[in-house]
Amino acid sequence: MSIIRVDLKEKAYNIHVGQDILPSAGELIAGACRGRRAVIITNPKIGRLYGGILAGSLKDAGIVADVVAIPAGERHKTLRTVSSLYERLLDMKVDRGGIAIGLGGGVVGDITGFVAATYLRGIDFVQVPTSLLAQVDASIGGKTGVDLARGKNLVGAFYQPKTVLIDLSVLGTLPRREFRAGLAEIIKHGIIQDGEYFKFLEENSGIILKRNPEALEHIICRSCQIKSAVVRADEREAGLRRILNYGHTAGHAVELLTGYKTLLHGEAVAIGMVTAALVAREMGGADADLARRLACVLTSAGLPVKLPEGLSPRAVVDAMKLDKKVLGGRLNTVLVNSPGRAFVADNVTPEIWQKALSAQMKL
Ligand SMILES: NC(=O)c1ccc[n+]([C@@H]2O[C@H](COP(=O)([O-])OP(=O)(O)OC[C@H]3O[C@@H](n4cnc5c(N)ncnc54)[C@H](O)[C@@H]3O)[C@@H](O)[C@H]2O)c1
Ligand SMILES: [Zn+2]
Repeated sequence: MSIIRVDLKEKAYNIHVGQDILPSAGELIAGACRGRRAVIITNPKIGRLYGGILAGSLKDAGIVADVVAIPAGERHKTLRTVSSLYERLLDMKVDRGGIAIGLGGGVVGDITGFVAATYLRGIDFVQVPTSLLAQVDASIGGKTGVDLARGKNLVGAFYQPKTVLIDLSVLGTLPRREFRAGLAEIIKHGIIQDGEYFKFLEENSGIILKRNPEALEHIICRSCQIKSAVVRADEREAGLRRILNYGHTAGHAVELLTGYKTLLHGEAVAIGMVTAALVAREMGGADADLARRLACVLTSAGLPVKLPEGLSPRAVVDAMKLDKKVLGGRLNTVLVNSPGRAFVADNVTPEIWQKALSAQMKL
């Protein structure tokens, strides 16, 4: 088992990564939290697969735990689900000493974190992420929240967990497409922060896709280290943390234009990262083969690198402008000129985006 310390002063906590962590989760949670009453929040499928093991291990450690399942899927990441959870917690007489444990992908983790941050003005929170994306991204950094009809993640809180437990063996049941979508964020960590890691991902895509346990432990640990170091330097996204948005500018536009239906988030980010690499090329200063290398590693991971059929570069640029208008800010763009070196540019014009997207059509 590996332990990654997220050093946020009085909010510091440990991320535990290893095979078969679930059977000893109770002990780890008992060590991280004071309460002895927990509620495991999950969805029906994950609850069936792993709820019993987690509840049993908590029981062995002297923690009474109930399992509460919420409906699966992003469309249930709403205040309505949050409100129904408050009612359930009240029914179960969970008091301020209670522990909310999110067992599932990013949807479950975001909702559980928000409930933990707000129920009785805050109770202890533990993340047990089960999708690759949640293990390397959503469970780290303390962003919690839900969607509104007008957009994703518009309501939420920064709220750090007491501990994060990453069991690699649960990835065995994760659908292949979801696994690949998680790899997009992992490749993003390499390209923005660590050229050596990026190279490792290029050279080992075969064993990673086969879910080789050693390779998985290595990349999950490295990605958790990178994300937590960035978060530590900038917990509330005032500066450095923005580099985690690499590939997300065009990626979000593509998700919006495809109605959040045809592409998974990681797939849209894969496309958006290639756009960002082509933007860097248009701006000058980028390694000549950066966009090619990125497209190549993403393709080997089974991820898309071109705009979906029927989407024009113009439509994507317009959607990006809309995104900017909604949030009232500048359209800052995270760029990378060579692996490991990300920076934020505020001078990328719509014409440059248009050119990059047109070049991407021809890849
Ligand atoms: N808080 C953050 O910093 C942050 C960062 C990135 C993403 N997110 C959020 O995370 C969400 C996406 O997370 P996600 O990709 O995990 O999606 P998800 O939670 O919908 O999970 C994807 C699917 O995989 C299934 N699944 C998960 N683990 C499994 C396992 N071990 N075995 C079998 N099936 C399993 C789930 O039931 C679901 O059907 C979005 O809502 C996004 O906004 C949050
Ligand atoms: Zn993302």
